[in-house]
Amino acid sequence: MRKLSICTALFSLALCGILNAEESMSMNAADKAMYAEMLENNPAAMDVAEGEELFNALIGQEAYAKMLGIKVKDLPVTVAGFPRLVKAAGKVVTLSQSLQMAAADQGKAIPKLESKEMVKMSAYVKSLANDKKINIDVKANKQMQEMVALGQKIFEERRGGRGLSCNSCHSADIVGSRLRMQALPDLGSSETASAATWPAYRMTQSAMVTLDKRMQQCMKNALLAELPLGSKEMVGLEVYVAHKAKGNPMQIPGLKR
Ligand code: HEC
Repeated sequence: MRKLSICTALFSLALCGILNAEESMSMNAADKAMYAEMLENNPAAMDVAEGEELFNALIGQEAYAKMLGIKVKDLPVTVAGFPRLVKAAGKVVTLSQSLQMAAADQGKAIPKLESKEMVKMSAYVKSLANDKKINIDVKANKQMQEMVALGQKIFEERRGGRGLSCNSCHSADIVGSRLRMQALPDLGSSETASAATWPAYRMTQSAMVTLDKRMQQCMKNALLAELPLGSKEMVGLEVYVAHKAKGNPMQIPGLKR
């Protein structure tokens, strides 16, 4: 009898364990289901649609292609290679900066990099390249070579109060390990492919966020001085991060935690 009750206790403990495991597994499944559902129905799709309207009113594909010195039909493949040397700028610029240039060409007010309008427009223009592979060419010219070197330096430089670099958390030998429950992502892996998936809807912020803003958020969390949007350093960092994800197909807008 006594033996039996111990057995029952042990049995229910074990069962309890199984149930708990099942419960947490079904939680995971629920999370996954929500993610899949949001992926089908990415809330940022509306922002991208608004971005299309804003872009067409401010610039339009013809004028944008002309400013870049290309044909309209080559926009997708060109867009998949940003940041890039734009002749009219005489330097390497991000896609958002190229939109500022095109707006100026049209005699329009230049949208600020951090403005909602710019975030939406840049997402729309990037989405023109969807399914095209990132084709950034960091050897294309002297300017690109300089920018990728600058980006790598910033990525690997230990800064701030904790002496961390981007590489401290995003280097090949550490990725996959966890920081406060969050997996440390390899920015260039096909799973993460940051440069191909931002602007993305950030579920934790209920808003669409650009890649440079996302990088600023990491700087803030890791107590690194935030590099300003559009600065040479930030553009270099974007070149380096885009180069890591080269060959991955663009999927804009992404969906992130
Ligand atoms: C202390 C560790 C840490 C440091 C330092 C750090 N990051 Fe991160 N980073 C993370 C974590 C953790 C995530 C994923 C968070 C999540 O799951 O949303 C992340 C996410 C990202 C992402 C988004 C990945 C995706 O989903 O596409 C980018 C881009 C990024 N980091 C860039 C940087 C850059 C650039 C730096 C250096 C300026 C940097 N990070 C420094 C921990 C760090």
